[in-house]
Amino acid sequence: MPTTIEERIIRPARNVMGSLRLPGDKSISHRYALLGGFAEGTSRFSNFSTGADCASTLACMEALGAKVHTPENGVVEVTGVGGRVVPRTMPLDCGNSGSTMRMIAGLLAAQQGSFTLIGDPSLSRRPMERIRQPLEAMGARLALTGGHAPIHLEGATLKPIDYSTPVPSAQVKTCVLLAGLQTPGETTVREAVRTRDHSELALRAFGARLTRNLNSVAIAGPQPLHAIEAAVPGDISSAAFFMCAAALFPGSGLVFDSLGLNPTRAALLDVLTELGARISVVQLEEKHAELVGMVQVAGSAEGLRSASIAGPLAAQLIDELPVLAALGPCTSGGIRIRDAKELRVKESDRIALVAKNLRAMGAEVEEFDDGLDVPGGQTLHGTEIDSAGDHRIAMAFSVAALRAEGETLIRGAESAAISFPEFFDLLDRVAER
Ligand code: S3P
Repeated sequence: MPTTIEERIIRPARNVMGSLRLPGDKSISHRYALLGGFAEGTSRFSNFSTGADCASTLACMEALGAKVHTPENGVVEVTGVGGRVVPRTMPLDCGNSGSTMRMIAGLLAAQQGSFTLIGDPSLSRRPMERIRQPLEAMGARLALTGGHAPIHLEGATLKPIDYSTPVPSAQVKTCVLLAGLQTPGETTVREAVRTRDHSELALRAFGARLTRNLNSVAIAGPQPLHAIEAAVPGDISSAAFFMCAAALFPGSGLVFDSLGLNPTRAALLDVLTELGARISVVQLEEKHAELVGMVQVAGSAEGLRSASIAGPLAAQLIDELPVLAALGPCTSGGIRIRDAKELRVKESDRIALVAKNLRAMGAEVEEFDDGLDVPGGQTLHGTEIDSAGDHRIAMAFSVAALRAEGETLIRGAESAAISFPEFFDLLDRVAER
């Protein structure tokens, strides 16, 4: 995590134009780092995420005995521990990354020894009971601090479970699958809403067998993993900020090369189309079962309409909701978000912070326990934005600032580096003033 506090001034734009090739998907990079670090042999990943979060996962795997080497820009080579991590007395620092903490806990639950997982103040406020429950049911011991990190974890020989996740969470699903990978017998995870399936695809790519049904996945352990070579697709959740920026301007045009288009991640394309943006996908291919393609986004001459996001869609779009909400004032019919209570326990309370910052920009917004109503037809005014150290808030309001009257100051802009260090440079490149 960057240590200096940065401010950025965002000036309004006339248009957004250009082509972008984005750094590797954060979710996929986490999984490749974890599985590569655990597998037998040396894996090689190109276009690995440049975000601080994935660096936290790599550092944890290195502390657990994996060898990490970065021979050239964007390439990461990981030599795995072959299924047995090195015991640690020092805490494993997961930084700001909930994915690192929750997923690595599943990997360690089946290992001999005790481990301590720590995180920064934001991560130390996030709920961890959701991983304690299934991992303890399998036989590990987890001591939390008031439901949060630090986590003291005692690994054990586990027994398989059949687990239904109480909230849709790909991190929790992955946590249980990584424990199940090492557990004799069949471990099943069921979910009411199908969350992103990168772990299932990555586990198979590393040679594991698992069985998938509509809303469940089962893994019979123990199974070894074998190193792979892979190019990580561009991060669609990072692209989301630019797609939304393009949607804001009638004459805009952005092209995204080699973008990850896994169907469990690509719902944003449908919502932007519903809003009126023109989107086309070309050159689709599969890389280790992940869909990758070129995407063109253009604004609509008639402006943006309205969108309502609720039910399973809210879970699938969870990381994109802040920037979609920030578009609300510039639509004709507004943006309605419900069933998104999970937003309150992300890197910040994203419902409260989106509402606070939209109001600071002069917009009306109604806050609900599980969402927001942002009416359309409103003018945004440049102001000071409090990102509270949350990368997706800093970036969402930098996008809104392109259509504001006057300049906007983004406080805590350094947080963008958690997932997307190149964000402000690329925004400057494509924003025409
Ligand atoms: C992620 C899953 C989501 C998402 C996060 C990344 C993942 O979290 O918000 O940014 O890579 O599995 P939850 O699983 O807690 O919903």
